[in-house]
Amino acid sequence: MHMKHERLAWSDEYSVGEPSLDEQHKNFCDMANEIIAFSETENPKKEEMLVLLTKLGNHILYHFDTEEEYLEKMDIPEAREHVKKHDKYREVLKKFIAEVREDTRVCTDQSDCKVLADKVATFVSEWVSKHMLGGGETEKLFAGMRKKG
Ligand SMILES: [Fe+2]
Ligand SMILES: [Fe+2]
Repeated sequence: MHMKHERLAWSDEYSVGEPSLDEQHKNFCDMANEIIAFSETENPKKEEMLVLLTKLGNHILYHFDTEEEYLEKMDIPEAREHVKKHDKYREVLKKFIAEVREDTRVCTDQSDCKVLADKVATFVSEWVSKHMLGGGETEKLFAGMRKKG
């Protein structure tokens, strides 16, 4: 059951008003689209997929660190809550990547390989779109910070 994934597109409404973070969010779209496109290729190799997934994973971790530099300066409960969400997600991400790495479908069978590639494409596109839509949350925090000056 091969699903067709929609490509992700950045839009100004996702902006959190902080250029460095917006830039990183745009990179998420590109990287997720790269994975989606890869999952749709004829015979996606697991090793190549892991390279792409690890690249995106590292960017997510890097992004959380960047966001947290701002959040720490805010020093408000909502910001601390948000950091906790990052921590939870760091775990989810680690687990997912390990799961893909340990998945025994090593792409000797083409259909199995597609299933695994689909699973990865679904995971990343859901996360990226949720993260950017949920940017509303980050956006509120940043607006609050700007008001405080
Ligand atoms: Fe973000
Ligand atoms: Fe965040």
